[in-house]
Amino acid sequence: MDIVEIRRLKKYFKEGPQVVKALDGINLSIEKGKFTVIAGASGSGKTTLLNTIAGLYEPDEGTVIVDGLNLSKMGEEQLTVFRRRKIGFVFQGYNLIPELTIRENIVFPLGLDDARPDAAYFPNLVHLLGLDNYLNAYPHMLSGGAQQCAAIARALITKPSIVLADEPTGSFDMKTAQNVAGLLKMTAATFHQTLVVITHNPELAQLADRVVRLQDGKIVQ
Ligand SMILES: Nc1ncnc2c1ncn2[C@@H]1O[C@H](COP(=O)(O)OP(=O)(O)OP(=O)(O)O)[C@@H](O)[C@H]1O
Ligand SMILES: [Mg+2]
Repeated sequence: MDIVEIRRLKKYFKEGPQVVKALDGINLSIEKGKFTVIAGASGSGKTTLLNTIAGLYEPDEGTVIVDGLNLSKMGEEQLTVFRRRKIGFVFQGYNLIPELTIRENIVFPLGLDDARPDAAYFPNLVHLLGLDNYLNAYPHMLSGGAQQCAAIARALITKPSIVLADEPTGSFDMKTAQNVAGLLKMTAATFHQTLVVITHNPELAQLADRVVRLQDGKIVQ
């Protein structure tokens, strides 16, 4: 089953008098439970594609269907709920809240939906990501790699249908990048989640089931 179905997707940005074709006719299906890497040069449209799947950008043309929901047919409020329940997002800069403990950061998205952590799932997730001893610590007390693991746990805590990550290992040395990438893949696989990751790192791309390459807003083979 395909969890993402994108047809003839176009997304333009106006830059002064010029129009940038950030996405220029994308057709892409992503199978449920698979790990897909999106690769391509800077400016090729990777972030635009990921943000469109996340319902953050509205397509100018074409359709984007995620987990059976047609995003173009949804209003702002519906899209907010869609993002909260269906999408787990991992950013390059973690975006952890400095005043909250790691535990509070991880469960934060649940609070937005008046939900509680699943009694078995939470410790399982925390353990897989090696965070057992950090739950009461604050983000600045952790290494960059451990902070990113906390951000991964936060992205997964709502059991989203799809986990999206934009250069999640971009600022790390090779060994940390590989560790974090390996943990991200292993955790998503354990909970049967679909994972879509943007990376420039060829070693990370090797972990993927499939690599989608973008060039000038188009998919190249
Ligand atoms: N919000 C925006 N406003 C104007 N132009 C934008 C915007 N977002 C992206 N673009 C343009 O769209 C094109 C694709 O950008 P995008 O950020 O998707 O590329 P990318 O592949 O993620 O690049 P990078 O590897 O540098 O992150 C670029 O030409 C960029 O300048
Ligand atoms: Mg980008």
